[in-house]
Amino acid sequence: MDNFSFYSPTCFVFGKDSEKKTGDCVKRFSGSRVLIHYGGGSVVRSGLLDRVKASLDKAGVTYAELGGVKPNPRSGLVYEGIELAKKENVDFILAVGGGSAIDSAKAIAAGVLYDGDFWDFYQGKRIEKALPVGTVLTIAAAGSEGSPDSVITKEEGMYKRGASSDAIRPRFSILNPALTQTLPAYQTACGITDIMAHLYERYLTGTEEVEVTDRMIEALLLTMIHEGPRVIADPDNYEARANIMWAGTMAHNNSCGVGRSQDWLSHNIEHELSALYDCAHGAGLAVTMPAVFTYEMKTNVMRFAQVAVRVWGCQMDFAHPEVTAKAGIEAFRNFLISIGMPKNFEELGAKEEDIPRLAEVLCHGDGRKGTISGFITLNEDECAEIYRMMV
Ligand code: NZQ
Ligand code: ZN
Repeated sequence: MDNFSFYSPTCFVFGKDSEKKTGDCVKRFSGSRVLIHYGGGSVVRSGLLDRVKASLDKAGVTYAELGGVKPNPRSGLVYEGIELAKKENVDFILAVGGGSAIDSAKAIAAGVLYDGDFWDFYQGKRIEKALPVGTVLTIAAAGSEGSPDSVITKEEGMYKRGASSDAIRPRFSILNPALTQTLPAYQTACGITDIMAHLYERYLTGTEEVEVTDRMIEALLLTMIHEGPRVIADPDNYEARANIMWAGTMAHNNSCGVGRSQDWLSHNIEHELSALYDCAHGAGLAVTMPAVFTYEMKTNVMRFAQVAVRVWGCQMDFAHPEVTAKAGIEAFRNFLISIGMPKNFEELGAKEEDIPRLAEVLCHGDGRKGTISGFITLNEDECAEIYRMMV
């Protein structure tokens, strides 16, 4: 196991009606005037926004608001949010929604206290300080409610890039599983896929002797395999939603990722798809992961064989471990298809003729140096080959 320090100071308030505690949470973390940031309207239609405002009113916290965050959030609204936050003199950013609203809120929080262009942070500049962020989560998926990460798409060039800093890690996140019951089945399945991707991206490591985090990841993957089909069959199943919601947070607050190298090639390769086609991140991952894993498998076949046996119940073939490894990848792919995820470019809405462009932007776009690295290092031609495997 590698050396590590783990600092993850988000306060999670979990359970039915927990959104009623939003005002108290904002006050606990020193907020007095809030910018409420949300998406395309689901929180308005469900009545959640009104309940959150009532809780803020009750706690004596005032607010301004900015809706309209799109899935795969864009830089334009971040600039707008930064201006509004300054004009309204807010001291706290509150995201109400999914990963997109939360990531946009994090970008605003960092941008408000920075004299330059907030995009600098998405090109590698360190975020030193930010306004405090809190979240009321409405979809179990991205894990942004407990992560130090934010992913934004710059409209000029459609570059989808991430920034990471403890300064933007939420101070609190309110997790009421019942809020996810209004999700369309497709979005629920996208969330399940993203959660499993966050687990796999950590499982695929070159670090030896990481039994405790291996076993934690396997437990969470097994939970998703159990609860995923239950919630697709019965969207109002609160207990299944509760288990998925907490698994989503645990999958990405890095408690399972400490002390080990991680992969993240599938995420990088997917981000070009959701940037170009505006598909859901989870759906893009469902198409991306089997191709990436098949390509990566030869590098460390025993890692793939291990997850195949321990999670997917495959029989270990000691003479031909690559057969076991491949069976595990196929089992994962079939699981994703069974919950309603796309299996190839066509079903995702991606086009074969765009592959050279996807690979070029992935490896060279917005300051990249020609390769991307994770479990293995890939150049533009290799990335193009992986995209072709998804056709
Ligand atoms: O915009 P509204 O109207 O709220 O609708 C949303 C949106 O259309 C809808 N939705 C959310 N909760 C709902 C609901 N509809 C009905 N009932 C509810 N309870 O679902 C759609 C998707 O929402 P979004 O916030 O985009 O989903 P998600 O949480 O999957 O976030 C995706 C974004 O997060 C990034 C992805 O790249 C993508 O841009 N990621 C962020 C990460 C992070 N910050 O740590 C890590 C991830 O790997 C990921 O890259
Ligand atoms: Zn993800």
